[in-house]
Amino acid sequence: MGTSTIAPNATGNASAAMPGPAVFHVPSAQEERPFIYVNGQMLPKNKAMVSVYDHGLLYGDGVFEGIRVYRGKIFKSKQHMERLYKCAEAIRLTIPISKDEMVAVQRRCIEMNNISEGYIRLVVSRGYGTLGLDPRKCPVPGVICIADQIHLFPKEMYEEGMRVIVANRPKTPIPCLDPRIKSLNYLNNILAKCEAIDYGCHEVIMLNTDGFVTEGSGDNVFMVKDGVVYTTPSDAGILEGITREFVQRVLCPSLGLKCLDKNMKLDELLKADEVFLTGSAAEIIAISQVDQHDGAKITKAHKIGKSNGEGPITKKLRSKFREIVTSDAVPEE
Ligand SMILES: Cc1ncc(COP(=O)(O)O)c(C=O)c1O
Repeated sequence: MGTSTIAPNATGNASAAMPGPAVFHVPSAQEERPFIYVNGQMLPKNKAMVSVYDHGLLYGDGVFEGIRVYRGKIFKSKQHMERLYKCAEAIRLTIPISKDEMVAVQRRCIEMNNISEGYIRLVVSRGYGTLGLDPRKCPVPGVICIADQIHLFPKEMYEEGMRVIVANRPKTPIPCLDPRIKSLNYLNNILAKCEAIDYGCHEVIMLNTDGFVTEGSGDNVFMVKDGVVYTTPSDAGILEGITREFVQRVLCPSLGLKCLDKNMKLDELLKADEVFLTGSAAEIIAISQVDQHDGAKITKAHKIGKSNGEGPITKKLRSKFREIVTSDAVPEE
């Protein structure tokens, strides 16, 4: 349905079309759904747009969140709001609505789009301004909320584990742009992810300029060694992931596992019994092989641990995670 557009007039100018054969475009549900919150309005997907003068678009000037919805509840909503407002403050951006209002916007989006299992993307941009960099020329920050679905990795990969590549491009150092700020500027991560794509991988492990492991392009890194769970520390240059914290504070203790922060060199990660990634979109996913490359070819391929696929501790953590997010007690705090 709805493939036809307004017929062009004799000059071929569709927008100035004069009366002629009346052919109307009827948007399909797919074009219109989901309804998206854009600066105070709920708009169908095909009309949800921002100005080309928005500094989020022109300069990646803004912050964002990626949040899961499980059983109609906003997973770790409070923590996501705290991180969003803290990150906004770190880039000197004052979000024009309160945290409670921001949560109400998300609830409206999930209700209007009938989402009980899904993903929320919240974007706060510096807003409409001039072509120059000066943020003072953008008086009103823009707020966007998209509630939709996300499928990052193939389903079977959660049991088989994924092969990743180590990026040759280092993580942006903290003094340049702190990776703890979830800013709209993700080029460092995207270009690292391109290295993974070049070698047929779905994800990448990024090292900092001192050679320590930081994180994936959109997830945190954990390893298991001799029954202890370790993750890279905040000051290695990572986003302090909310799923990471859930693994540390809730899942590991509930399974009687010790979980520690640890600065690790790549060699240490390669010798781990298990390696896995965590993120709102990825949830918990095992890494079965870590490859290295020289820009032209794979130079080393390293299998992780003894188990073919997901290791036993990763499996337990993932199943505990799934148990919680499919229960009546999905945590929103
Ligand atoms: C760079 C980066 N690291 C880690 C994460 C995981 O964070 P969270 O668990 O809060 O989704 C993300 C997710 O957005 C990310 O973009």
